[in-house]
Amino acid sequence: MKVAVLGAAGGIGQALSLLLKTQLPAGSELSLYDVAPVVPGVAVDLSHIPTAVKVEGFGADALGDALTGADIVLIPAGMPRKPGMDRADLFAVNAGIIKTLAEGIVANCPKALVGIITNPVNGTVPIVAEVFKKAGTYDAARVFGITTLDVIRSEAFVAELKGLNVAEVKVPVIGGHSGTTILPLLSQVEGVTFTDEEITTLTPRIQNAGTEVVNAKAGGGSATLSMGAAAARFCMSLVKGLQGEDVVDYAYVEGAGEDAQFFAQPVRLGVNGVSEILSYGKLSAFEEKAKVDMLDTLKADITEGINFIKG
Ligand code: NAI
Repeated sequence: MKVAVLGAAGGIGQALSLLLKTQLPAGSELSLYDVAPVVPGVAVDLSHIPTAVKVEGFGADALGDALTGADIVLIPAGMPRKPGMDRADLFAVNAGIIKTLAEGIVANCPKALVGIITNPVNGTVPIVAEVFKKAGTYDAARVFGITTLDVIRSEAFVAELKGLNVAEVKVPVIGGHSGTTILPLLSQVEGVTFTDEEITTLTPRIQNAGTEVVNAKAGGGSATLSMGAAAARFCMSLVKGLQGEDVVDYAYVEGAGEDAQFFAQPVRLGVNGVSEILSYGKLSAFEEKAKVDMLDTLKADITEGINFIKG
């Protein structure tokens, strides 16, 4: 198993790479790529951790070497949000970075499963899909926007609110990955009921949890440690799927398009990425309205991504 992390020297990249060094199956390779000159040092640092995962660092001119043979590519490269910015403000900077990296994947590992972390995910995933389509290498089953941070935040907040064992809390989160497009399905949390007030307080808290971190870091960046943990958890779902295990997880993927062309929903994972897109089930009246109300925003984000490549 070879996993490449693009943007590996950043806040998310380093946290993610640390977790993968300790969690990937023995015999795996971890390939770290970044344009920052510190990346070989990050690889050397991690290589001193005694696990059977080989780590190698690749600098700005070695994208091809970093990607060759990769089974999974995770992309946290790009600028994070500062106070006052929303994810959409990142688009201008990060769209170009994502396009370049997607072209690298086309040239070096077109069959890899690709997990995109770079924000705004609602638009960067369509960019990658369009680059792959243009090159004739697109397979919707292999391209994922990583929305696991919304899921783990929901788990943490619900467990905190209800005094539950967080390891046993599961919260489905569908839609997109910014503001109101993030839709936690609190009505589907097993064994838990919420008052209307809890729902109308907790839903926006989950949707704006990124801003909570951005403001608390006071200009020092956005979520890196929780995102590193989220991306590692999603990567391990991909790994298990590639190893033939039956795994269901949530991700932002191109599906049948009933709600929007790209939509975060439950997916079954297998040896070729998504093996089945699953139904997200019945929504409460509150959730149905929230879904209908956010679809225009989500669709506009998707169109922005597509148009960045199509012109
Ligand atoms: P950071 O600034 O700490 O790290 C970004 C890294 O990307 C840097 O090391 C930089 O050198 C590298 N980079 C820039 N251009 C590159 C290129 N062309 N090729 C390879 N590497 C390149 O930022 P941080 O905090 O790690 O965030 C990274 C991205 O993840 C941001 O876009 C941020 O908005 C996003 N993010 C996504 C979340 C999600 O839930 N999907 C949550 C939090 C952040």
